[in-house]
Amino acid sequence: MDLSLDGLSGVLSRATFLENQNPLERTRTLAKRRVALLFYESSTRTRTSFELAAKGLGADTTLVSSLSSSIEKGESLKDTGLTLRALGAEAIILRHNSSGSAWLLESETRLPVLNAGDGMHEHPTQALLDLRTILAHFDPSTKTCHPERAQRVEGPAVPVEVNAETLAGVTVTIVGDILHSRVARSNMLLLPRLGARVILCGPPALLPELAAGAGPGISVERDFQAALAQSQAVMMLRIQAERLAGLQVDLEDYKIRYQLTEQRLAAHAPSAIVLHPGPIIRGLELTAGVADGPQSVILEQVTNGVAIRMAVVERALLATEQGGRA
Ligand code: CP
Repeated sequence: MDLSLDGLSGVLSRATFLENQNPLERTRTLAKRRVALLFYESSTRTRTSFELAAKGLGADTTLVSSLSSSIEKGESLKDTGLTLRALGAEAIILRHNSSGSAWLLESETRLPVLNAGDGMHEHPTQALLDLRTILAHFDPSTKTCHPERAQRVEGPAVPVEVNAETLAGVTVTIVGDILHSRVARSNMLLLPRLGARVILCGPPALLPELAAGAGPGISVERDFQAALAQSQAVMMLRIQAERLAGLQVDLEDYKIRYQLTEQRLAAHAPSAIVLHPGPIIRGLELTAGVADGPQSVILEQVTNGVAIRMAVVERALLATEQGGRA
């Protein structure tokens, strides 16, 4: 993610503006502009929210999925992108199983390409919506997060101006399959830039020790209880069975050590908010009671995805009008 802090504040403020704008007026923003969604991996949240975001701005959208297109016949990413461009697409939203695919497609098509998740590399808009969710629960006066804060009917406006100190004093623990997680990677790049500490927590098979040197503000803690006790926000991750590729993980042992249960949460992080990018696997990385409990902000993350993606889709298409990069 190459947004400056000013650019980040711009996206956050635009997300709030667009979310609150009259929906009919909003559809004039990108009326009849063409946005293609190109998905090589399955998705519920990212695909739907990007589509709703583009449509909410008035754009026409089309979905190309690897299972129902000429990709199945062997057409390459480059040729698929060039075909979409020839059909009038002005921006492409890409999910792909290869790291770096968004960069490749952008260089081949010269269109703005929004990365909706590339392999084990990055998922930038997920980190942006995670940040928006954390900020909605964050009290700048005490530098703490509160699960109940955004649940008030007249809750606080989401802070939109961020700087290198905005989250100073906040610790976010990311738990589980860090190795395969593009969500973890994007959050590790984003949150420390705003002053947050990031603790990575999980077994060595899913969290190599060298992750501790991934960047400033990032550390590794194997003891889940110790990590929870320091956290204002806990981000649970799914074990990505589709990417394990020969790694042996004893799921029963994993649950004993790393499953987020109501008891663990109450004992060690009773005031923290609980995030999860989804899809959640109830009974594995977290219990149903935690997923549905008062500290969970998982569905707020989903909702925030639409506002954030409206802001980034608009930014990408306006950048093309001005001849710049997305
Ligand atoms: N968070 C996320 O990327 O979910 P989907 O795979 O459902 O899009």
